[in-house]
Amino acid sequence: MTRLRVATFSALRDGAGVRVDAGGHRLALFRVGGEVFALGDRCSHAEASLAEGILDGGTVECPRHGAMFDLRTGAALSFPATRPVPVYRAEVEGEAVFVEVGEESP
Ligand code: FES
Repeated sequence: MTRLRVATFSALRDGAGVRVDAGGHRLALFRVGGEVFALGDRCSHAEASLAEGILDGGTVECPRHGAMFDLRTGAALSFPATRPVPVYRAEVEGEAVFVEVGEESP
C-alpha cells in the first residue's frame, strides 16, 4: 500500500470529478463538500471516464450509458453496469489530498 499526494484540495471543484494518474492507477477524484472520494476512473461496463460523470450526492453517473456508482463503496447501483469499480482510501490534510493505492477494493 502506498500513500500518494494526488491533488490540492482547493483546486478540486465541489461537486465535480477530476482524473488523476497515480502509482500506475487511473483514478477519479470527487469532491463533495469537505470530503474527497477516489474511485477507479474506468467504468466497469465499458470504456468511459467516471471523472467526467455527473455527481448526485453520494453517487456518480457514468457519462456514457448512465450507470450509477456509489462513491463510498464503488458499487454499481444501476444498469447497464453490474460490477463495482475499485475504491481507494482518500484523505484530506489541510490542502493536501492523499490516496492509498496498491490494493483495490474489491
Ligand atoms: S460505459 Fe459506463 S455505463 Fe456504459
